[in-house]
Amino acid sequence: MQMTHTQQVLIQELSQQLPSKTIGEGLAILANQFPAHVTFSSSFSFEDQIIAHEILSNHLNISIFTLDTGRLFAETYSVWSSTNEKYHTHITAYYPEHAAIEKYISEKGPNAFYESVENRKECCHIRKVEPLKRALAGNAVWVTGLRAEHSPARKDLQIVEWDEGNQIIKYNPLLHWNTEQVTAHIHENNIPYNPLHDKGFISIGCAPCTRAIKAGEDFRAGRWWWEDASKKECGLHTP
Ligand code: ADX
Ligand code: SF4
Repeated sequence: MQMTHTQQVLIQELSQQLPSKTIGEGLAILANQFPAHVTFSSSFSFEDQIIAHEILSNHLNISIFTLDTGRLFAETYSVWSSTNEKYHTHITAYYPEHAAIEKYISEKGPNAFYESVENRKECCHIRKVEPLKRALAGNAVWVTGLRAEHSPARKDLQIVEWDEGNQIIKYNPLLHWNTEQVTAHIHENNIPYNPLHDKGFISIGCAPCTRAIKAGEDFRAGRWWWEDASKKECGLHTP
């Protein structure tokens, strides 16, 4: 379904208004304009922790959810717990449909994603893409921690976008932040973060599909490292 004229006007207005605002201001504007219809997806990366800090410490009317694939790092579950504790909250988790994941694992095995791109994409679909659809349903705005620095494909993204596949306005407030800015902001504000970021991990996804990167390597070199670079998206942010 194409964007309606009203949606086009709205995107244009928000695209003019939000990029010059701080993240806190941008989130507050959206929370007021779309009360209880703004949602933020967190993978507990340091980008996501900055956004969560703004939402939770300012008590903004924005829901937060995570997609628990069941294959996350132990460190990711720890930062999730410490975030709940620090901000006195319980971040909502979405899980894969049990019948789909049982069928996939029973037919293909627990680590089938290493065997082919097709298997890998199917695993990402079951564990992330389908639960994302349920998490976004009924919302008007989806806030993400996407950064342009992460990959060439992300350089063309906009701070405010229309996500055709999910029929939702997307707000990527940290799109143009660099890693130094992200790290400095985390430390200045004493925000809990994933200790893997101190061990060479920049982009962190599921444990079996993420490794640390070396100096000079592309930020997403550690994600699905056995695959061709052009295929390295899980489908959350691609149509
Ligand atoms: S991915 O497409 O490769 O998996 P990436 O790890 O770069 O995404 O994260 C970009 C943004 O996608 C995050 O800032 C977050 O908003 C969202 N995201 C990624 N993984 C998850 C997850 N497991 N749960 C919730 N949101 C996620
Ligand atoms: Fe499955 Fe790996 Fe995708 Fe996680 S990143 S959903 S384990 S293929």
